[in-house]
Amino acid sequence: MTAPWVKQAISEIQSDFQRSADTHLIRFQLPAFPDIFFYLKDESTHPSGSLKHRLARSLFLYGLCNGWIKQGTPIIEASSGSTAVSEAYFARLLGLPFIAVMPECTAKRKIEQITFYGGRCHFVGHSAMIYHEAKALARELSGHYMDQFTYAERATDWRGNNNIAESIFRQMAREPCAEPDYIVMSAGTGGTSATLGRYIRYQGHDTRLVVVDPENSVFSDYFHHRDASLTAALASRIEGIGRPRVEPSFIADVIDEMIQVPDAASIATLYWLEPILGRRVGASTGTNMWGALQLANRMRAEGRQGSIVTLLCDGGERYQDTYYRPEWVHEHIGDLAPWSEILETL
Ligand SMILES: Cc1ncc(COP(=O)(O)O)c(C=O)c1O
Repeated sequence: MTAPWVKQAISEIQSDFQRSADTHLIRFQLPAFPDIFFYLKDESTHPSGSLKHRLARSLFLYGLCNGWIKQGTPIIEASSGSTAVSEAYFARLLGLPFIAVMPECTAKRKIEQITFYGGRCHFVGHSAMIYHEAKALARELSGHYMDQFTYAERATDWRGNNNIAESIFRQMAREPCAEPDYIVMSAGTGGTSATLGRYIRYQGHDTRLVVVDPENSVFSDYFHHRDASLTAALASRIEGIGRPRVEPSFIADVIDEMIQVPDAASIATLYWLEPILGRRVGASTGTNMWGALQLANRMRAEGRQGSIVTLLCDGGERYQDTYYRPEWVHEHIGDLAPWSEILETL
């Protein structure tokens, strides 16, 4: 039996979905790669500003249908920011209290957005502490710990239901090279890469899924050696992606290849993208695009024509005080010049 409040809450989320439009697939070409079409799936245009809008919707529905979320249940989440912004949006829609447990270095704009949606922020010193703290807080408040790092891969309906993979393949249908040679994605929870990889297999596509990984992340080592106990001492400097432990929602078996991307290359790429797109993007998009360019180099060397799809995960306005401030970049990331020089040749 479904409680009346749960019925109403699910209906609210479905109505919100009904009111929303799909995100655009931006196409562009580069003079250095005349035979390759690049595509960026622009996830920044969701109402809560990032690809995490999809995940937050799925996690709330999963929690409601599992009987974990009821009228008045406080929602607690461990997040590097973007998921918390999107979950705060849905918590407000359902009239539920929301607390985000985040590293204290989280971008100021994300904190403002969580507060804007009526959420509260609870800060910890290091990103590895967010899980324990969120769990403890949920216990203390008799709340529900959303736990995106466990449930991201299973809360999303990977077979379809307009998930991100289905949307990409549908939007590619009338393109010159409709089946992408590569889809490139970075991993935070690994939920998006899991959906993409499963959908590729389910539909029998020949597209290869390539996951890019920043510095201070264990995902790439885990992909190659499958040691689930790996940890990293330092936090990732690319907000939203790269984790200090092997997250349960990271599904290595659906990934064809992983590429490690130096943080300075990610940031140089987001500056390089600005005049191409006419707008600013977040750092994980720089990591994604750097990976896409490495694959384009490979395709060119092999004389192949085709298409590469990657994600524009969030917009740059969230990062004006960090990635878009030269002093901050100099202090935290280092010298971008060698990477910018490579990009200029494109
Ligand atoms: C800005 C940004 N990019 C990429 C990702 C990675 O997505 P996923 O968690 O599906 O691996 C995240 C996740 O938090 C993010 O916030």
